[in-house]
Amino acid sequence: MKTALVTGVSTKVGLGYAIAEALGKQDYHVIISARKLEQAETIARELNSQGLSISAIRIDLLDRKSIAEAASQVNKKHPVLDVLVNNAALMLDGSATTLEKDLDEFNIEFQTNVTGTWSVTQEFYKMLVASGHGRIVNVSSGAGSFTDPDFGLVHFPGAALKLLDPYPLTPYAITKLALNGLTIKMSKDFKADNILVNAVCPGFTATRAGSADFGARPVSESVKGIVWAATLPDDGPNGGFFRDGAPLPW
Ligand SMILES: NC(=O)c1ccc[n+]([C@@H]2O[C@H](COP(=O)([O-])OP(=O)(O)OC[C@H]3O[C@@H](n4cnc5c(N)ncnc54)[C@H](OP(=O)(O)O)[C@@H]3O)[C@@H](O)[C@H]2O)c1
Repeated sequence: MKTALVTGVSTKVGLGYAIAEALGKQDYHVIISARKLEQAETIARELNSQGLSISAIRIDLLDRKSIAEAASQVNKKHPVLDVLVNNAALMLDGSATTLEKDLDEFNIEFQTNVTGTWSVTQEFYKMLVASGHGRIVNVSSGAGSFTDPDFGLVHFPGAALKLLDPYPLTPYAITKLALNGLTIKMSKDFKADNILVNAVCPGFTATRAGSADFGARPVSESVKGIVWAATLPDDGPNGGFFRDGAPLPW
């Protein structure tokens, strides 16, 4: 049985849940993590009751000790990890302009989305190498691209989704821009170990109450492109940025 780790699985409505469920249905043992262990455990029990093989650990991306402890715990039971989906992320106040933004708050978002993701990848790396076919998916966003037509840095706000203009998502976008850069660098460094690393934007997805009214699509649609990148064959793409399996501009 292949093994996957999915971070940021704390609720049933988030993408993390759907990713874990989809990989579980493809016969992966899926380790799910949340910053509150009880939340991941509750979800693991629920997915186990559907016949899927799921276990839970605690990872807080803002607590590097928790990441190292989780890696050591997983390594004892599952020294081989085939897939790492870096799904967990934080978006705080999306309405602040660049002038207004509280930079201490920005640092927390950056530490979560970039440093935390980087740290998880470092700590679990040797288990991915042991797979011989490791796959890493960094769940990113079109908000971190330059030219994505809806959310890209040069188009949003002011593009198609006018209703969202009061939420420029500036700090979040900057963290995802950095995550995209990190994805490229990792893809080069990890190639020799036959690990494919890609960034995937799930698309605007209804994981928050009311977001469907603004055009967000169902989780069931968005999850497919993430699972595709997590299960690529050895000759699949490396160091790319995708949505629904199709390349996105950086
Ligand atoms: N939904 C969209 O429209 C959309 C669009 C583009 C990209 N994305 C990306 O898709 C991924 C999943 O997003 P989502 O919409 O499913 O959002 P979500 O439900 O808010 O999921 C984010 C997860 O990250 C976790 N998290 C936050 N800070 C953490 C920390 N310090 N340590 C560990 N976990 C932490 C959250 O846990 P808590 O519950 O404890 O906060 C939650 O489980 C994210 O990377 C997001 O940026 C989403």
